Amino acid sequence: MNRTYIGDLSSHAGETVCIKGWVAVRRDQGKMVFMDLRDKSGLIQGVVLPNHMEAIEAAKEIRTEWVVAITGIVNKRPEKNIKAGVVNGDIELEITGIEVLNKSETPPFDIGSDTREINEEIRLTHRYVDLRSDRMQKNLRARHKVIKLIRDELDADGFIEVETPILTKSTPEGSRDYVVPARLYPGQFYALPQSPQQYKQLLMTAGVEKYFQIARCMRDEDTRGDRQPEFTQLDLEMSFVEQEDVIALNEKLLIKIVETLYPEKKIQQIPFPRLSYTEAMEKYNSDKPDLRENKEDSNLLAFCWVVEFPFFEKTDTGAWTFTHNPFSRPKPEHVEWLMNKENIGDILTTQYDVALNGFEIGGGSIRNHDPEALKKVFEIMGHTPEAIERNFGHMLKAFGLGTPPHGGIAWGLDRLLMLLQNEPNIREVIPFAKTGEGRDPMMQSPAEISVEQMLELNITSIKKKM
Ligand code: AMO
Repeated sequence: MNRTYIGDLSSHAGETVCIKGWVAVRRDQGKMVFMDLRDKSGLIQGVVLPNHMEAIEAAKEIRTEWVVAITGIVNKRPEKNIKAGVVNGDIELEITGIEVLNKSETPPFDIGSDTREINEEIRLTHRYVDLRSDRMQKNLRARHKVIKLIRDELDADGFIEVETPILTKSTPEGSRDYVVPARLYPGQFYALPQSPQQYKQLLMTAGVEKYFQIARCMRDEDTRGDRQPEFTQLDLEMSFVEQEDVIALNEKLLIKIVETLYPEKKIQQIPFPRLSYTEAMEKYNSDKPDLRENKEDSNLLAFCWVVEFPFFEKTDTGAWTFTHNPFSRPKPEHVEWLMNKENIGDILTTQYDVALNGFEIGGGSIRNHDPEALKKVFEIMGHTPEAIERNFGHMLKAFGLGTPPHGGIAWGLDRLLMLLQNEPNIREVIPFAKTGEGRDPMMQSPAEISVEQMLELNITSIKKKM
């Protein structure tokens, strides 16, 4: 018999069906056994009546989280037993046959409750069990839906998704790189991308004009509730645009996501309010202010743009460094200051950040596509001509080979999803998240590698004394 999804059972009343899934709950009442069964589409209550001898015997053996194929008759519930507003609340399954497809040991925790209450190390060790819970299934599916909507909308708008390398060279995003030893080049290393920043700009040189990517980014920094070593960006870049074009496109896309997939949520203000960095710091003491009028309302979304950031700031040692992105263009009226390397602390960049309820969910800028002006940025930061050539020669070269003016943005997709799903941290919306200490207790990574692997890679390992 063909399998019927549990979510479709209500249209099969009176019929004999076969369903496949997990035993969510089992209650043995002696003569009868009740069972809640679950598949990806929903839940149904089933009952094994005493007249189905074989099924009763099988049902007595069964435990929760076993995987079963069940045959049964879909019965309408009597009026008084109907559970209004519950999927399949008006039907139940009279179970006539049970086939066990896979047994389960006692699950490490109860997935019928809210697993947020459970020790996270244990959840992450058994993530495949944790992901079965209703809330985590909803998070997985919401993630898929948001990404699909983004892809559809950007496709309709003439964007194409282009994959960029994972084995690459260090990009100066201000964080530490993860590195990969290059077997064929002893002593040399690839770096994993902190973002596709340089590649997406080179795609503008390549004539793509409208690029996006659901891109994995890796940054070796201390983890927090809204930070993981490995996270996902919606990364995009456009040619022949100004700040207003990028802001308008992104605002439209964010509104579309909320209106289509989260109709219960309310956006506090459209168009999104804009604040300068100075204003945000003076009024809210934050460059990602939480503008919600009512912080109790879990369905209120207060987006805002923060603009006019200083380009440079002083490091602890007194040298200049960039605040956001070295590839940004200064505001047009400050380009001359950059070229003359004067009023450095006053130079404002075209950087725009988008914040939501007190979290930075994205940031981008119009880029500096003039090679001479880009060189000045690195000179201000004290890079020698040799270092500039070694690290950024490829960008400077490309910008001398017909690169259109361009700009873009990247969203922290995990952060956006965390807020849309009302979750307290991004680990709840990342299928296989790392712990707060950057470990994966399920795969037990990071892990040592064998001496043979080390030899092959021409590396040795020296453990720093802690
Ligand atoms: P930025 O470094 O600001 O910009 O990153 C863009 C957005 O990514 C999110 N984010 C993170 N999310 C989870 N874990 C992390 N460790 C993490 N780090 C950043 C934030 C942030 O706003 N290439 C530029 C973008 C551009 O200019 O186009 C970039 O990566 O929500």
